[in-house]
Amino acid sequence: MKAFIFDLDGVLVFTDQFHYEAWKELADQMGIYFDKEINNRLRGVSRAESLEIILERYGGPQLSRQKKAELMEQKNRSYRKLLAGMTPLDVSAEVRETLAGLREKGYKLALGSSSKNARFILERVALTGAFDAISDGNNITHSKPDPEVFVKAGEYLGVCPQECYVVEDARAGIDAAKAAGMKAVGIGEASGYEKADVKIGHFSELLELT
Ligand code: BG6
Ligand code: MG
Repeated sequence: MKAFIFDLDGVLVFTDQFHYEAWKELADQMGIYFDKEINNRLRGVSRAESLEIILERYGGPQLSRQKKAELMEQKNRSYRKLLAGMTPLDVSAEVRETLAGLREKGYKLALGSSSKNARFILERVALTGAFDAISDGNNITHSKPDPEVFVKAGEYLGVCPQECYVVEDARAGIDAAKAAGMKAVGIGEASGYEKADVKIGHFSELLELT
């Protein structure tokens, strides 16, 4: 194995909680039921697909594309306000040390995130320099479970899919990694997913895979 590709939200930083809060605010305002279990289905999927999942419980009149775009914009504004409060302290010492340890061992590291806010988040928490390549929501046309974001990350690194581990907290992300022909490591929510090749409880366990 030559490389590790990391999901961002819910793996390196806990912005998954911010996504939940921002969607919850919107759902409450529209009178739509939304809870943490529904939020788990939003992990790894794009902003537009997340909105569609939330609207499954919407009983009101058909929404135009324009209205949906406004709703996504509103959610993103609330989400970015929460992101703006992030600092380097929002990345644990365990995550920083593990990333540094993997690099020291000669592995290439990439980000593979569906988020269009990924670079902003990495800047806020001072992690941009930790990666050799960044593949995110701005360079893909299909989001997880489609393999595109990870295939691109592997290409940017110049490493074959079979030589890449993907570290994910989303079931959609594990499916995407498998579809890319990569080895899928499940953490957090995805550590209970049978399709993960490896399941870990703590981020530092990645060092034991090497
Ligand atoms: C993923 C999150 O990282 O990014 C999803 O797990 C989110 O929940 C997706 O919908 C898109 O994020 P953004 O920041 O582009 O709205
Ligand atoms: Mg995630």
